[in-house]
Amino acid sequence: MATERTFLAIKPDGVQRGLVGEILGRFERKGFKLVGLKQLVPSRELAESHYGVHRERPFFAGLVEFITSGPVVAMVWEGDGVIASARKLIGATKPLEAEPGTIRGDLAVNIGRNVIHGSDAPETAVFEIGLWFQPSELCAWTPADQVWRV
Ligand code: TYD
Repeated sequence: MATERTFLAIKPDGVQRGLVGEILGRFERKGFKLVGLKQLVPSRELAESHYGVHRERPFFAGLVEFITSGPVVAMVWEGDGVIASARKLIGATKPLEAEPGTIRGDLAVNIGRNVIHGSDAPETAVFEIGLWFQPSELCAWTPADQVWRV
């Protein structure tokens, strides 16, 4: 399994509900490595680029309105198979269809307020990381248990 990076974002509902620590903890406990983290209110331009594939969908305007409505916690996580694994930990887009144990299955009800975004494929991960982060904002580091391992 290849070491990959993925882009995750806690949406304004997740931040407002005080779920940042809970969500970060789930990815830390799984064993993935945090390599980028910042909080920002996304510009309309950023939100429209991020959700560009949905530009023609009826929910697009409301989605952009929502994602720009308050702080978002943007993250880059690294690890073996992290792109698909993070999607599994996040759960189905419709929270009522998301399995218990997943973030959306445990913490969300409404599709328009489903707490978190995760890149869905290697190409989207590269695009989204480049859209949200400067290379200098990402931190390649070696966890201490590996530094000290003999
Ligand atoms: P999508 O990329 O299909 O889902 P995911 O976030 O699981 O990758 O959709 C992006 C977001 O758009 C989704 O998280 C919530 C919103 N959305 C709606 O509000 N209504 C909808 O019918 C769909 C499909 C998505």
